[in-house]
Amino acid sequence: MFDIRHISESDAKKELEFLAKEIEKADIAYYQNDEPYIDDAKYDELRHRNNALEAKFPHLIREDSPSKRIGAKVKSEFKKVELQVPMLSLADIFSIDDVHDFILGVKRFLNTSDDIEFTSEPKMDGLSFSARYEKGVFVKGSTRGDGKIGEDITQNLKAIKGFPLFLTGEVGEVLEVRGEVFMSKKDFFDLNAKNEQENKKIFANPRNAAAGSLRQLDARITEQRNLSFIVYTWGEVSQVLWNTQKEFLDYVKKLGFPVNPYNTLCKNEDELIKSFNYLMENRANLDYDIDGIVYKVNDLELQKRLGFLTRTPRWAVAHKFPPEQAITRLNDIRIQVGRTGALTPVADLEPINVGGVIVKHATLHNEDEIKRKDVRVGDFVIIQRAGDVIPQVIGVLKEKRADDIKEFVFPNICPQCGAHTIREEDEAVRRCTGGLSCPAQAIEMLKHFVSRDAFNIEGLGDKVIEDFYNDGIIKTPYDIFTIEERNKPQDLFSTIPSLNLENRDGWGTKSVIKLIEAINKSKRISLQKFIYALGIRQVGIATAYLIAKHYISFENFMKCMREKDIQLLISIDGIGSAIAKDIVEFFNEEHNVVVINNLLKVVKVDDFEGVINNNSLLLDKTIVFTGTLVTLTRSEAKSKALSNGAKVAGSVSLNTDFVVAGESAGSKLKKAQELGIKIISEDEFTQMIS
Ligand code: IVH
Repeated sequence: MFDIRHISESDAKKELEFLAKEIEKADIAYYQNDEPYIDDAKYDELRHRNNALEAKFPHLIREDSPSKRIGAKVKSEFKKVELQVPMLSLADIFSIDDVHDFILGVKRFLNTSDDIEFTSEPKMDGLSFSARYEKGVFVKGSTRGDGKIGEDITQNLKAIKGFPLFLTGEVGEVLEVRGEVFMSKKDFFDLNAKNEQENKKIFANPRNAAAGSLRQLDARITEQRNLSFIVYTWGEVSQVLWNTQKEFLDYVKKLGFPVNPYNTLCKNEDELIKSFNYLMENRANLDYDIDGIVYKVNDLELQKRLGFLTRTPRWAVAHKFPPEQAITRLNDIRIQVGRTGALTPVADLEPINVGGVIVKHATLHNEDEIKRKDVRVGDFVIIQRAGDVIPQVIGVLKEKRADDIKEFVFPNICPQCGAHTIREEDEAVRRCTGGLSCPAQAIEMLKHFVSRDAFNIEGLGDKVIEDFYNDGIIKTPYDIFTIEERNKPQDLFSTIPSLNLENRDGWGTKSVIKLIEAINKSKRISLQKFIYALGIRQVGIATAYLIAKHYISFENFMKCMREKDIQLLISIDGIGSAIAKDIVEFFNEEHNVVVINNLLKVVKVDDFEGVINNNSLLLDKTIVFTGTLVTLTRSEAKSKALSNGAKVAGSVSLNTDFVVAGESAGSKLKKAQELGIKIISEDEFTQMIS
């Protein structure tokens, strides 16, 4: 990033384009997929940078600027709800100086030097909702969506314990209350513990867990999760019976809605800062995550005069907490060995409370990072926990280092199996060469093999795999499928005793039956899942899908790889020679071939089911998707296109045959128009594939 004071106009333009894309990607990951891939602090930094550039070059503000947008478009599977009063967002501020500037700005706008009253409210880190009551009866629930159109979550809100379905008291014709649905830290930990047991999705944080539980098409899932909610504002209201924010909070409380007990009324700047500091220091003791404090001008008359900017009110702001840090002792640097043999250093810490979560381990990334930071066992280190990501060691207090502490030497033999390690040129990771004879790699490989996108065997969670491996019950994937046989009571002449799983700690007849059922169910598997399950380096689900689509049967694929015939492989868009090399190597390791051949005795791998429709109008055409599709998700649209024999490209060029333009398509659409490429609507696309 360039210093904003010296940035040229053309660099600013490029950067704004980059930021628009990055923020959109992050928004989709966060709001639609409930799976953020950057942490809150990084996200705020991107938005901040975008705003600063736009403030400096207002004429460069893009049509698709993130500053004009709230959240992300709704997931298409949900019914839509039009929000008469939009659900807005809040501007973020980060420092005491910013608080001062915010208050000064409000006073200037109102042309007054008098103190102004604000409410200070914990900023709940959950999912905002709007609930509409007509004559006191709950009729519609919605998420925020893009602020104007939300997703219909009426049934899901009804499934939350204690959610009021009827209101008594003075409620008028229409009353929309708005607030946050969240999951308490305790419920989050309980849910993850249960999911881990059952080999189900592990949520990164309570916010994701809440989002994943609320935005369920099947409200019965919502019902099984423990969700909580509070109310902090309103939408459409036929009778406004309050004159201040504080009066509103009292009013909804009386109607039976929970409000945050830490909301306070502050008379001036000092009191706001006091409330901020108090909650920052005590947030660890709360049983729910908050990521800052919201300040709102209390008086509605003043709020009205202050009004709104594009996506945020002038009368409120969110004061965000800095990422949480703590200092503790580094007791050890442990080297973990992953599925592909990568050695990852993990910091074992003297347990420490970082923002309400006890942190015992943190990542040290890799060999070079340890060198760069000069981290040594016995050092006092600074730990940072920012929202979603694994805690990190961000620095060392060198002045506290004892004299006899030695530099850390990264091992050149695998600490798990003793095989030698190698680090290839231009690679940051060092790897164990032990393959499946390394127990750590074997266990990770087994965990991958049974994971959700692979064989998806419920009942074989991480802990069970570790125990079964250590007790010799499962050493290779094939052993999973012989469990049923080996668990049968043995006859008199048998030399091998039965596994007798029923008698293991934590197991019983029922759970063994369930496990065997799950294993048997998994014996039939699609080609792409099977390829993914093999755990070939660099072959994720997307690559596995591409391979399946092109090779159709496993037999065909394996034969080509054994013969090192990679012509077809490297002609596939998205598969380069580096991936091809890893795949060929995998199929030419004899122990892998043994594992596969054994597996094929017990498992039925279905041929690729997306048989290409040879009569399709899309056969051999190159398609680019842009904008938001309404009836299909992006991946559905892509897989439909692929199974109709089309190629899907990421960018528009002269080779493009069609551009499918969804709602609010941007630069790709423009480019297609410039190049004179055929543009079709989502409807036309669905007709072509039907
Ligand atoms: S008021 C016009 N109050 O923060 C103001 N929002 O960035 C509307 N949030 O979408 C929001 N706690 O999800 C408000 N006490 C609080 C809040 C709060 C959390 C969230 C909410 C909103 C986002 C704004």
